[in-house]
Amino acid sequence: MEERIAVCPGSFDPITLGHVDIIRRAARLFDVVVVGVATDAQKSHMLDIDERVQLAELACADIDGVRVEAFSGLLVDFCQQMRAAAIVKGIRDSSDIAGESRMHAINAELAPGVETVFLIAVPQLAHVSSSMVRWLNELDADVSRYVPEAVAQRLRHPR
Ligand code: PNS
Repeated sequence: MEERIAVCPGSFDPITLGHVDIIRRAARLFDVVVVGVATDAQKSHMLDIDERVQLAELACADIDGVRVEAFSGLLVDFCQQMRAAAIVKGIRDSSDIAGESRMHAINAELAPGVETVFLIAVPQLAHVSSSMVRWLNELDADVSRYVPEAVAQRLRHPR
C-alpha cells in the first residue's frame, strides 16, 4: 500500500514542546511526517534556517518516521513535492482557529488534493508558543520547561 505522508509546517523559531507533541501525534496517524521548516524571507527570525532545522532534527530524533526539511515558497507546492496527502497543524485556542481556517481555505483552493488536519493541543501545552519563548529568552527567563533540551541549551549558549 502507498505510504501516507503528512507535512507539519512552521517557522519553528524555535521548535517548542507544543510542536513536538503535535509531530509525535501526527507520526501515529501517518507513515511519514515531514517537518517543513519555512525559510520565509519576509519574516525576521531569532534563529537562522540551519539552526531551526538542526534543532527540529534533535527534538524529533526519537520519533519514528519523522524527517525535517527546509522549504521556501508555497506550502502546498512543498506538500506536492513531498507527495504528502495532508498538512497537520496544531490548534491551541480559539484565536488560532481564525488564522488557521483562513490558511486552510487558501491552501484548499490552491491544492484541493492536500487535506489539512488540525490536532487540538493538550491543555498542558496550549499556552506555549515560539513567540512567548523568544520573548522570555530575550528577558533572560528560563524557558527550559517549554522547549526540548537541545533548544534550551542553544538559548543558554548564544552564538
Ligand atoms: O509557525 P508559523 O510561523 O505559524 O508557520 C506559518 C507557516 C510556515 C505554516 C505559513 O507561513 C506558511 O504556510 N508559509 C508558506 C507560504 C505559503 O504557502 N503561504 C500561503 C499559505 S495560506
